[in-house]
Amino acid sequence: MIEVENLVKRFGSTVAVNGISFRVDDGEIYGLLGPNGSGKSTTMKILAGILKPTSGRVVVGGVDVAGDSLGVKRIVGYVPETPVLYESLTPVEFFNFVGSVRGIPEEELQERVETFVRAFGIEKYLGEMIGSLSFGTKQKISLISAMLHDPKVLILDEAMNGLDPKSARILRELLLQFKEEGRSIVFSTHVLALAETICDRVSVIYNGEIIAEGTVEQLKEFAHEESLEDVFLKLTESQDEVAGIVRALKDAL
Ligand SMILES: Nc1ncnc2c1ncn2[C@@H]1O[C@H](COP(=O)(O)OP(=O)(O)OP(=O)(O)O)[C@@H](O)[C@H]1O
Ligand SMILES: [Mg+2]
Repeated sequence: MIEVENLVKRFGSTVAVNGISFRVDDGEIYGLLGPNGSGKSTTMKILAGILKPTSGRVVVGGVDVAGDSLGVKRIVGYVPETPVLYESLTPVEFFNFVGSVRGIPEEELQERVETFVRAFGIEKYLGEMIGSLSFGTKQKISLISAMLHDPKVLILDEAMNGLDPKSARILRELLLQFKEEGRSIVFSTHVLALAETICDRVSVIYNGEIIAEGTVEQLKEFAHEESLEDVFLKLTESQDEVAGIVRALKDAL
């Protein structure tokens, strides 16, 4: 379970997150939607214990991030929006490195690596240097490394980015299985159709604040719109702006 109360994060004079509160239950997939720069990644880094909040209370799987960021890292699997990997290692070396840092027993590590490597079909890249691999393959390595320690909570920042349709489907099935097992998942995406099919509830973050939260159906009702895209554009005050830009483009071209 994840509880966020009045979370604020400032970078100098920039207020990246401005007092947000939400809760993610066990077995729930919670979507964070919002325009570029609205504070999604900042929120997720705090949930993963890698950024300290300015103020507010964040409890992940019973552990308070302010008191025990190391404890949070133990139970969270975090996939950043850009893979952070050691380019000069091979995937096998990298997985072994992650396993030793996390203290995963050798046999368990090998079993989990094998399962995920097979699921994502990256067997043939295991001996190559990570730096030479394609973006999507690096993303798969980032995903696998986040799941090796059997995390109770998954924080996935635009994790479908770069995945081909088959791999995206496999990740989706994996997430549904994680959910079945009672884990909590926070999932950010700009692909609203994806949010619609994966997330139990979503929130729309705008300028560091949650401006709407609920199931996709509830948001559609609330905004009197039929598609999540229209809901999003309306709530983020972009609907009229987009129409104006389209008109200007038509006149100009
Ligand atoms: N390390 C940092 N130092 C200074 N400002 C930062 C830092 N990280 C984020 N910000 C600022 O905080 C705000 C929120 O950024 P964040 O990365 O959380 O947005 P986001 O919703 O993830 O956007 P995107 O959809 O583009 O990924 C932005 O104004 C950004 O410039
Ligand atoms: Mg981001």
